Amino acid sequence: SVTRREDYAPPAWLVPHTQLDFDLDPATTRVTATLSVTRNGAHDTPLRLDGAGQQPVSVTVDGVAVNDWRIEDDQLVIPLAGDAHEIETVVEIAPERNTQLMGLYASGGNLCTQCEAEGFRRITWFPDRPDVLSRYAVRMTADKARYPILLANGDPVAQGDLDDGRHWAEWNDPYPKPSYLFALVAGDLAVNRDTFTTMSGRTVELGIWVRAADLAKTEHALAALKTSMAWDERAYGREYDLDVFNIVAVDDFNFGAMENKGLNIFNSRYILADPDTATDYDYDAIAAVVAHEYFHNWSGDRITCRDWFQLSLKEGFTVYRDQSFSADQGSAAVKRIEDVRGLRAAQFPEDAGPLAHPVRPDSYQEISNFYTATIYNKGAELIRMMATLLGPVTFRAATDLYFERFDGTAATCEDFVACMEEAGDVDLTQFRLWYSQAGTPRVSASLTERDGRTTLRLAQHVPTTPGQPDKRSMVLPLKLRLFGAESGRALTDERLVLLDQPSETLVFEGLAERAVLSINRGFSAPVIVETDRTAADLGFLARHDDDPFARYEAMQQLMLDSLVAGAMGDTAGHDAVIAAVSDTLANPDLDPAFVAEAVLLPSESFIGDQLATVDPEAIHASREGLRRALGQRLDDQWREAYDIAPEAYVYSPQAKGRRRLRSVALGYIAASGAGDAATLAFSQFTAADNMTDRQGALATLANSDADEREAALDIFYNRYADNSLVIDKWFQTQALSSRADTGAAVAELVRHPDFTLANPNRARALIGAFAANQRAFNAADGSGYRFLADQLIALDKLNPQTAAKLLPPLGRWRRFDPARAAMMRAELERIVAAPGLSKDVFEQASKSLAG
Ligand code: ARG
Ligand code: ZN
Repeated sequence: SVTRREDYAPPAWLVPHTQLDFDLDPATTRVTATLSVTRNGAHDTPLRLDGAGQQPVSVTVDGVAVNDWRIEDDQLVIPLAGDAHEIETVVEIAPERNTQLMGLYASGGNLCTQCEAEGFRRITWFPDRPDVLSRYAVRMTADKARYPILLANGDPVAQGDLDDGRHWAEWNDPYPKPSYLFALVAGDLAVNRDTFTTMSGRTVELGIWVRAADLAKTEHALAALKTSMAWDERAYGREYDLDVFNIVAVDDFNFGAMENKGLNIFNSRYILADPDTATDYDYDAIAAVVAHEYFHNWSGDRITCRDWFQLSLKEGFTVYRDQSFSADQGSAAVKRIEDVRGLRAAQFPEDAGPLAHPVRPDSYQEISNFYTATIYNKGAELIRMMATLLGPVTFRAATDLYFERFDGTAATCEDFVACMEEAGDVDLTQFRLWYSQAGTPRVSASLTERDGRTTLRLAQHVPTTPGQPDKRSMVLPLKLRLFGAESGRALTDERLVLLDQPSETLVFEGLAERAVLSINRGFSAPVIVETDRTAADLGFLARHDDDPFARYEAMQQLMLDSLVAGAMGDTAGHDAVIAAVSDTLANPDLDPAFVAEAVLLPSESFIGDQLATVDPEAIHASREGLRRALGQRLDDQWREAYDIAPEAYVYSPQAKGRRRLRSVALGYIAASGAGDAATLAFSQFTAADNMTDRQGALATLANSDADEREAALDIFYNRYADNSLVIDKWFQTQALSSRADTGAAVAELVRHPDFTLANPNRARALIGAFAANQRAFNAADGSGYRFLADQLIALDKLNPQTAAKLLPPLGRWRRFDPARAAMMRAELERIVAAPGLSKDVFEQASKSLAG
């Protein structure tokens, strides 16, 4: 069944107060919920509470047991006469049998919850929709030896022991919240504590809770939390509002983390780090996710979403906020490059495929399927564009207005845009199309010169997407600047052009020399720009553009043009790439972190996205060919970049940049076919004092045929056999290998004793990584497709949400040759026909076949 945005109606009953009593036990937990309910407006609809099949043990209304209730479509329907009542329901649930990891479940011997989007109904009967805000009081009772720590939202109120070895605790959350923000944790946990003093001088008790053995790995997350709290005060004027803020890390989690009020619950991969087990990438991701969840306290918890179609209201804005935070911690230019690379890798293909949807969708079958790169990352780009249109000071005034006006409410994307409009005194009528139209706009830009006048022609095209055949022109904020082709000097200031027509022409008079176009600087609009710039122009910009993103972009385009030609057998473009890479490596003024990004070739799947039909083998060969040429021709420079003096590990933007450039250099040395490459990689692998260098070397070896390959994989496995997050890396590194036998190796690895579909991180590390390996997954015999479908069908029985997230690679069938397309379709059809299929997977598979 389909839920539609236009069908929104306010809730018939409100729940100003909720009392929850949990008698916790992994096999049978008894939940007693007491809801004060009030009629919302004049109507005679019965009270409808959402559930997920659990039979109520009892139902009472105002203290009297009733039996005139009925179950209708997973709702408990209770007829009520007056306008205010107290409803009590009792249910029993079984956390240890909850393999979906939604609702109350067991992980690593502890009990925890995940309620967004619709998990609360798996705990108790409730109007499980984000616009019903309630004040929660929670009491938990549990065995004290097994669950010595009992946590819930808000502030602790009281606790005590019982005679039978059990104990209890009560928590109270003074802020009204929707049910999806409810959380509790019961477990045997140790805490890393600290305090934060807010800008108004209040002291907040911070705690990060993990199993005792992991306590030493929580320092980085705790530091990131304090930095985030101070940043949100400075950048947005947002102060924390409770006396305690707790984070709990669990190993079994469907996604990254969850912003439950005062009690964030995290996938342990976004909390635990030390130099020996976490890479620089992990450190960055931990800080970003800790910040993201903390920032949700205002953009998510204090102001939540009216309905799930508004999901990007909190997610797009909060991603924008965490991206801005991370940009402030190190190199903003490198952060922007990373974010755009992520957008292009995940969101652009989504927007170009059968699962394309607007940032504010119009309908869904299963809301879990809409926690997408479009809602999150394209949503963040929309906020960024509005910030660009308003400028920093006005944007801040607009967010102040938003936070003030909608505090304590469940709001809409429209509410946010209206605040931007009002504070910015701008008309965003046409801009709103970014929320309603799916698809990545394409811009074509060309410069011509005649009689001393330079003319820039811009045109836009928004492609059709499923359900949206006709598109209107959008507002595309394009930052651009012209440079002199001879002098290398800027010929104009940077200007912001708002392309809001199908096409537009800009004329520049009296330029002293031929101009080269730098456009979409800073990636000011999330669009695809096509220009007629030559390899010489791109090479020029790659050396001279003063916008680091545009400089990176010119290099990427130069590489892409060469790689696409290479896939058709034309390698004439290699020289221009090699010269530009050489100059970039030789430029002493550039930050090593930037150099590492700039000299990296676009991924095989991104090259595939540029082609009418993806030929995975030709793309692989083209990319490997250019890598080899770069490796061989610039051997001296790679070795110079590699042979920097060894330094003891520190996590800082500078040290991180040097490590990154070194590992890129090692990759090129290996790509050159140099006889000593495996020896270099293996000695880096054994000598490394940190996971970044160790895993970088392992990845290089995993791609190779060297004898050292097996040895390194074994050493790595044995060293980290008891660390599941590192064992995930061991699986993932093998699944991402560029070797021809990766498909066979992965099929073997699912039989490894450490492999399990029950743990989402493990499933993603092997199956998800394999499906992202374009060459391996798209093996010509269809074995990759069959393998993915088999795993997905098996996983769907345990965890539909995580299974559905693995499906999109099969939906790319239109991008491939008829033989591969037919095999992919056949697997999608097999999935759709699987008995007992979840609606999560059904929605993704059926849309992938149709769209
Ligand atoms: N709100 C969480 C976050 O972005 C993620 C929740 C994901 N929920 C889901 N059903 N996929 O931080
Ligand atoms: Zn979020």
